Amino acid sequence: MNFRCIAAVLAATVALPFGMAHATDLEVTHWWTSGGEAAAVAELAKAFDATGNKWVDGAIAGSGGTARPIMISRITGGDPMGATQFNHGRQAQELVEAGLMRDLTDVATKGHWKDVIKPASLLDSCTIDGKIYCAPVNIHSWQWLWLSNDAFKKAGVELPKNWNEFVAAGPALKKAGIQPLAVGGQPWQATGLVDTLMISLGGKDLYMKVFKDRDAATISGPEVAKIFKAVDDARKLAAGTNVQDWNQATNMVITGKAGGQVMGDWAQGEFQLAGKVAGKDYTCLPGLGLNEYLTANGDAFYFPKLKDEAKSKAQDALAATIVDPKVQVAFNLKKGSLPIRGDVDLASANDCMKKGLAILAKGNVLQSPDQLLSADTQKQKEDLFSQFFANPSMTPEAAQKRFAEILKAAD
Ligand code: GAL
Repeated sequence: MNFRCIAAVLAATVALPFGMAHATDLEVTHWWTSGGEAAAVAELAKAFDATGNKWVDGAIAGSGGTARPIMISRITGGDPMGATQFNHGRQAQELVEAGLMRDLTDVATKGHWKDVIKPASLLDSCTIDGKIYCAPVNIHSWQWLWLSNDAFKKAGVELPKNWNEFVAAGPALKKAGIQPLAVGGQPWQATGLVDTLMISLGGKDLYMKVFKDRDAATISGPEVAKIFKAVDDARKLAAGTNVQDWNQATNMVITGKAGGQVMGDWAQGEFQLAGKVAGKDYTCLPGLGLNEYLTANGDAFYFPKLKDEAKSKAQDALAATIVDPKVQVAFNLKKGSLPIRGDVDLASANDCMKKGLAILAKGNVLQSPDQLLSADTQKQKEDLFSQFFANPSMTPEAAQKRFAEILKAAD
């Protein structure tokens, strides 16, 4: 054996720390493919690899609406991944009820999740029949209006302090050749905007009467009609956006091509990656500057049952890593989301994240529509609102009528 071979063999043996077990590969599926999202995923992968296992990235391009049917069919079709993202709430409910998903209660007990995960509704959303089936990874909220400071300067109008001032600035933005509102073409974006207007303009009581109580008279009543009028304003301001992905719409605000976007605070990750400074280059209005309530949307990881013992152990390691305080800081700072623990210090959080943390600290957090409504009902809303945004001949009254029918039949 020549010198080169001996050196290679030595290097190989030295490279593996003494007693390190063979690294277990775990395929993790998610739909985080924008720049900011990928930077956040890299933090999770790095932390998981440090446990001696191996993160095998299973990114699925497109939106959650594209990815979730693929994830579900792999799990139900006998080709499960090691772990998968779903939103907090009821998206994995049927998979859990079919007995296809791992019970993480032991990991949760060891990690004292019940004491550290805040708000408790996050873990409640993972709990079915007293067992815990997911590891929450972040808190995202939809109720943000992101403004391009440059766009309003160019249009010669004051930066809006709330949604109503934003709508009033629409004509000046248009006159300056700037797209007033950027809304991507995927159905979930129109729906998220509508749900946000319901809570940020309608307020906490109206939002809960509609999505939690599903009170028929309220849903068909004058207060909700006002929200649909605001949705019609949004539709007019968004006409001409002509992009599909949410981060393309965010990029229009980042580059000043659009005045604003109503989008979840994952948009933060894109502004950061573009080197933009909150308060200087862009302005964020939580609760659209009107009702500072946030819904605890966000993401959690679920773990399909696997036959492979080593992979099951690696699943436990990943679940524990996701909730680890250091990982929570590293991941959420890149993702633009808030941590799922109250005991971490986000010293380097920017102005917008600090606004979100302050709202969280006040307890002004409500369950999201994903937590209150089934995936099927959410899908019907997506079909309705993507149609409403695409079809100007559909009146707000007709949309409200269809909305009432969907919620009446909601499960
Ligand atoms: C949401 C998810 C966020 C972000 C967004 C856009 O469902 O909670 O983390 O990824 O989709 O992709």
